[in-house]
Amino acid sequence: MLRKTLIAVAILAGAAQPLLAAETASDPKADFKAFRDYFTNRFPKVALDDFVNGPYSMDEGLRKQWKAIDEFPPYDFVVDKGKQMFATPFKNGKTYGDCFANKGIGVRQDYPKFDAKTGQVITLDVALNQCREANGEKPFDYSKDDMAALTAYMAFTSRGKPMNIAIPNDPRALAAYTKGKEYFYTRRGQLNFSCASCHVQNPGNHIRTEVLAPALGIMNAMPIYRSTWGGMGTVSRRLQSCNSQVGGVPLPGESEEYRDVEYYLSYMANGLPISGPGTRP
Ligand code: HEC
Repeated sequence: MLRKTLIAVAILAGAAQPLLAAETASDPKADFKAFRDYFTNRFPKVALDDFVNGPYSMDEGLRKQWKAIDEFPPYDFVVDKGKQMFATPFKNGKTYGDCFANKGIGVRQDYPKFDAKTGQVITLDVALNQCREANGEKPFDYSKDDMAALTAYMAFTSRGKPMNIAIPNDPRALAAYTKGKEYFYTRRGQLNFSCASCHVQNPGNHIRTEVLAPALGIMNAMPIYRSTWGGMGTVSRRLQSCNSQVGGVPLPGESEEYRDVEYYLSYMANGLPISGPGTRP
């Protein structure tokens, strides 16, 4: 099998240059077009909606394994657990559904949202913990277990719905978007890689045994069940792994940087279907 090394391909990064100008003023609509054009031109054989399947959109062999595994998806029992948790009232009698539009069913594609009250980006995970705290319950850990089960269930109820991220006309929303974009293109860690070094310049290439996912639609499958984790992980858990992979320092779950980069990447995925929860090797 052909295994190109990252270092070798990084030299071919010229093609990604137009995407790497994070320092220029933010124009989300122009960014969106450049981002989409880059991926569709580079991978003309990949159907637009298939990018949301991450590594499977890039590699035939992996895709076959996935199809086999997905006949009995390992996340099934987690979705069931999430569904039950979601329906179980808090001590005060209210439920998660009371905190969300449409009782929380089929709304995952609307997150992250910009919140005008706090001036911050609210991801689905943060919204769930805010809901708990507003109802007198302790927040969950942001990386796995209960939080992963709840978000897996909510993603499941949104399967196939197009990502629908709004950047309202508020300078703070644009600032959050711009910070997310900068975080994505900033190099860090001992390897001095940005998120883009792997997910824009090298999708489809191998890093050790893994096939890199394209940045287009990269949030749509979250949360994911990974065999290497032996369980389900949230967006924060995935980003912490990605930070560690370059010898960088992982940030606490749902840090502002993580929320902003999720906002940026989800906006780039607008119109592409929610595919979560996902299964990954
Ligand atoms: C050294 C390369 C590398 C860097 C840099 C990197 N990642 Fe990753 N990332 C991976 C690998 C490997 C995986 C697992 C295989 C895959 O899905 O790409 C992954 C997976 C992901 C996934 C899940 C994709 C899916 O479909 O399962 C997301 C989301 C993600 N990375 C976001 C980021 C963000 C945001 C950054 C910057 C903070 C980043 N990554 C930096 C290597 C990297």
